[in-house]
Amino acid sequence: MIFHVLTIFPEFFDGPFEHGVIKRARDTGAIEIRIHNLRDWTSDRHKTVDDRPFGGGEGMLLKPEPLFQAVESISGRSGRTVLLSAQGRLFDQKAANEYSRLADLLLICGRYEGVDERVAEHLADDELSIGNYVLSGGELAAAVVVDTVARLLPGVLGNESSAVFESFQDGGHAGAMLDCPQYTRPAEFRGWKVPEVLLSGNHEEIRRWRRRAALEKTARLRPDLMAPSPNRD
Ligand SMILES: C[S@@+](CC[C@H](N)C(=O)[O-])C[C@H]1O[C@@H](n2cnc3c(N)ncnc32)[C@H](O)[C@@H]1O
Repeated sequence: MIFHVLTIFPEFFDGPFEHGVIKRARDTGAIEIRIHNLRDWTSDRHKTVDDRPFGGGEGMLLKPEPLFQAVESISGRSGRTVLLSAQGRLFDQKAANEYSRLADLLLICGRYEGVDERVAEHLADDELSIGNYVLSGGELAAAVVVDTVARLLPGVLGNESSAVFESFQDGGHAGAMLDCPQYTRPAEFRGWKVPEVLLSGNHEEIRRWRRRAALEKTARLRPDLMAPSPNRD
């Protein structure tokens, strides 16, 4: 899968994609990440990407022309174009699963007070938020989306089944359950013991304990996930 990221701060991504799972996936060719500098699609001497909002108000907005030109000239694409935005639909594991089936994904990072609305209306397929809070720019959000989608792709985690049983993935169904509690050595630490069943070697008992513990933890920390919701599959 190819991830395209359109940003005015390409150097921002020197860090997030240079470590661990994502770096290995890039090195093996399981994913490709192409960072594009929005200023490459400006036509004036100052490489201007922003302008004042019509009607007045604080701050600047990213102008439509460089964004349209950039998205329309990144060739050979067949996937989705996503505008990162605090006003977008909430990104979750279900959306990550959908995106993981695409050949490519282009992520547009907003800055300043945001982006001319015509980009959301006529250029992006989706407007996506990573949470109900406001970031200074879409770059952090883009890094979150790339990381979350990439770990669902074949060959990225090495052990391909391990993403399937993580929180929210629920056996591959992008479900509503948290992962179960996990423990490693030592079996006793400061008087706190690992649940006996995990040391028993009885795989069926362990499987049942994990299921029950995951349900209990979900009910305790995220009861909202368990409540019936009209929006849930
Ligand atoms: C300071 S924000 C603009 C906020 C906008 N004026 C508003 O109130 O909705 C600048 C950029 O950060 C990104 N951004 C901010 N919060 C985000 C979020 N929760 N999810 C995704 N992107 C976000 C968007 O790309 C946005 O254009």
